[in-house]
Amino acid sequence: MVLTGAEIRQSFIDFFVARGHTYVPSASLVPGGDSTLLFTNAGMVQFKDVFLGTDTRPYTRAVNAQKCMRVSGKHNDLDQVGRDNTHHTFFEMLGNWSFGDYYKKEAISWSWELLTQVWGLDKNRIWATTFKDELGQIPEDSEAAQVWLSQPGFDPNHLITSGRKDNFWEMAETGPCGPCTEIHWDLGPEACEKQGEPGHVCTVNGDCGRFTEIWNNVFIQYNRLSPTELVPLPKRHVDTGMGFERIVAILQGVRGNYDTDLLAPLLDVVQTLAGQTREQREQNLTPYRVIADHVRAATFLIADGVVPGNLGRNYVCRMIIRRAARFARKLGLTEPFMAHVAAKVIEIYAEAYPEVKQSETLIFDTLTREEQRFAETLDTGFAELNRLMDAMRAEGQTVLDGKTAFNLYATLGFPLEITRDILTEEGFSVDEAGFYQSMEEH
Ligand code: GLY
Repeated sequence: MVLTGAEIRQSFIDFFVARGHTYVPSASLVPGGDSTLLFTNAGMVQFKDVFLGTDTRPYTRAVNAQKCMRVSGKHNDLDQVGRDNTHHTFFEMLGNWSFGDYYKKEAISWSWELLTQVWGLDKNRIWATTFKDELGQIPEDSEAAQVWLSQPGFDPNHLITSGRKDNFWEMAETGPCGPCTEIHWDLGPEACEKQGEPGHVCTVNGDCGRFTEIWNNVFIQYNRLSPTELVPLPKRHVDTGMGFERIVAILQGVRGNYDTDLLAPLLDVVQTLAGQTREQREQNLTPYRVIADHVRAATFLIADGVVPGNLGRNYVCRMIIRRAARFARKLGLTEPFMAHVAAKVIEIYAEAYPEVKQSETLIFDTLTREEQRFAETLDTGFAELNRLMDAMRAEGQTVLDGKTAFNLYATLGFPLEITRDILTEEGFSVDEAGFYQSMEEH
């Protein structure tokens, strides 16, 4: 029997509630009182102060499904969205936490039990990574490695160590952090887009699509104060994060996140609106995925009070709506259409996140207004960018200067990310630092 996304979310929560965890509802995408983050980028954000010891809760074990955005700062997946089947701007993170309670043994054993016994996943397709500092400054996590090796049926050849980039998790430039153990799923050789390339070997955290990370167990034991200052915390904690859309794709046996019952219905709406065939959709997957991802993200942002604007969070909301509108042009969608996609988002998520239903009218109106506003300058913006690229070609330049890119935003409403998309498609790039400097000056 194939579980629905909603059932999978609930079975995760039920598993940990049965093991003494308190269900804590998702926090807002806007982190309350935290100036180090633009958006909630992980389930642990609402527990940050508990880890630091400056806040307490009436429980020491928690579980939830958290709304997350990874479009800025330390965790930014925007560039990958649309290009593959596994990245999003907005996504849900399933997590379980221990606040000075259980530690590595329980966390890893429960991960293994849930994946292999409750959900029945094939043990031979699961891999794990543990931390080994390439600089030799932070102790290696041999304790987590030992726990993995004691799991029934875990293949010892599927345990690998890796360094700071993949196995030392940090929320932001400062804050709680620690070594982590990542759990990866083998999608099979057919998922490798580099098959047959001389010298290519598929590896976990490698450069092909064969392995996908599904769950990260972080062992929070430090507070990062600066790039060089890591101080031990008074207590040790567990912070886990599972990519909900990824696990749904695996359990539903589909090609990727955009084929799950969470996202495929959004692509269906776009296909109907664009009047395309299934074959045309397959040939245009990038715009389909970008539109589905960005409209879903904008729907949740607006429900959490983030409307399009010129700065900070509001800029991001504006940028993703406009970026979706630009990709929609590739499918021939020139009239406002996003409210129709948002209606489907609301239908799918209203039960788990009632706020999207409560803000329905605001969401529809905001999307449509922003689409109309962008439509006023979009054609002029395209023409101006084409003129600039012609000039660059004539002069043998490849990088658009930041001030010009900023002017495109200030005068024609082209966010940097759209300018960058268009330039990249034509083999150019943009001076991003210069863009931000001009924005600052402005
Ligand atoms: N906080 C765990 C993660 O985001 O991977």
